[in-house]
Amino acid sequence: MILLHLMKFSVLLFFLVVATFLYQVQASNHGFFSRKKVGISPTIDDGICASSIIVYGYKCQEIQVVTKDGYILSLQRILEGRNKAKNGSMKKQPVILQHGVLVDGMTWLMNSPEQDLPLILADNSFDVWIANTRGTKHSRRHVSLDPSNPVFWNWSWDELVTYDLPAVFDYVYSQTGQKINYVGHSLGTLIALASFSERNLVNQLKSAALLSPIAYLSHMNTALGVVAAKSFVGEITTLIGLAEFNPKGLRIDAFVKLLCDYPRIDCYDLMTELTGKNCCLNSSIIDRFLMNEPQSTSTKNMVHLAQIVRHGVLAKFNYERPDYNIVHYGQVVPPIYNLSNIPHDLPLFISYGGQDALSDVRDVENLLDKLKFHDVDKRSVQFVKEYAHADYIMGFNAKDIVYNSVISFFNSQGNT
Ligand SMILES: *[C@@H]1O[C@H](CO)[C@@H](O)[C@H](O)[C@H]1NC(C)=O
Ligand SMILES: *[C@@H]1O[C@H](CO)[C@@H](O)[C@H](O)[C@H]1NC(C)=O
Ligand SMILES: *[C@@H]1O[C@H](CO)[C@@H](O)[C@H](O)[C@H]1NC(C)=O
Ligand SMILES: *[C@@H]1O[C@H](CO)[C@@H](O)[C@H](O)[C@H]1NC(C)=O
Repeated sequence: MILLHLMKFSVLLFFLVVATFLYQVQASNHGFFSRKKVGISPTIDDGICASSIIVYGYKCQEIQVVTKDGYILSLQRILEGRNKAKNGSMKKQPVILQHGVLVDGMTWLMNSPEQDLPLILADNSFDVWIANTRGTKHSRRHVSLDPSNPVFWNWSWDELVTYDLPAVFDYVYSQTGQKINYVGHSLGTLIALASFSERNLVNQLKSAALLSPIAYLSHMNTALGVVAAKSFVGEITTLIGLAEFNPKGLRIDAFVKLLCDYPRIDCYDLMTELTGKNCCLNSSIIDRFLMNEPQSTSTKNMVHLAQIVRHGVLAKFNYERPDYNIVHYGQVVPPIYNLSNIPHDLPLFISYGGQDALSDVRDVENLLDKLKFHDVDKRSVQFVKEYAHADYIMGFNAKDIVYNSVISFFNSQGNT
């Protein structure tokens, strides 16, 4: 029972659980983790371009951008698709892809080139930029702080809104001189919505596609999430509370392992219960996923996500003490991100799944309600009844079900 509850708490940590689950399946297939890990040997040098893009015949460039608070982020730019004739004489539209929490840009590249969103976009003559947020494997550098220093991990998704997204947008805009299309998944939708609500990025933005959007998390299975959030908060305002949140180092591995020692079908059901019933994941994706994910984030970021669950509002990081909040914000409660302030004429494509346990249908409907005054012709909403959270990035049929619609949407927005 306790184990089960712990697992429920993990709904919050969606990708962590998927990953540890997959890890266990792998372990049971191949023996101990350590043995399997030998061939993987991730190093700083095996960039995403080299490992997953150039190998398929695409041109790809590794780029670094530095945020205003000193983090050095890696970006991959796919300059052209395989079918060069298709580009025509048109200037290519830039598109930024922003991944979710506990994964990095590799998460878009798990299937074949015909199935992966970045490569599909490149083949459709987009100028593709894959972002990797601070703390992930290829973005673990800072102008002065080392990741072993707790201060390196002193940030939540507020800083992704304030620093990471603007750094990437500014760079892409400066290089292309064109308004940018954006695709976000999961946390990548939340930080975009939060930014737009503060009218950030919008001057550089052409349109945004939000897949499995997250803004409210009230209907997730939250009972243990709340407890977890509370126990997480503790000393977050001091050095002691600042830490890397490294899923691979977590003890939760052990709990999952215990559960998965039961016949595997139980594990499968558990995953379904936690993440939603992904209809369309190719089982061969497991190996690829585990080579690169899950990725680290900061504990403070996990706490901030937990706060959305707990407080039911989209607000800045809550220091959980009025005096600290006053120091940081000049008010007792943290300021909210008011989604009604998103410009009504900003072209938005939203796709959400009927089986998504994290981005629950009722929460998405709450989000849509906040956007109800959006210009009708600037808002396109797609509901995919059979899809859950991971289908959106790794589903073998996501091209037909979702990506083609994203591309049509981008192309239907006039060039400005
Ligand atoms: C495609 O783009 C390349 C470089 O951007 C250009 O040299 C080439 O002429 C273009 N192809 C067509 C068919 O316009
Ligand atoms: C963490 O960042 C906040 C501002 O976001 C700052 O007020 C605080 O002093 C920092 N803590 C440490 C230990 O550097
Ligand atoms: C959010 O913004 C809308 C429109 O600007 C305003 O009417 C509403 O009161 C705001 N909500 C909150 C909670 O501040
Ligand atoms: C699943 O992956 C295998 C191996 O990569 C591939 O051969 C197969 O076509 C994939 N199936 C689908 C439906 O994409």
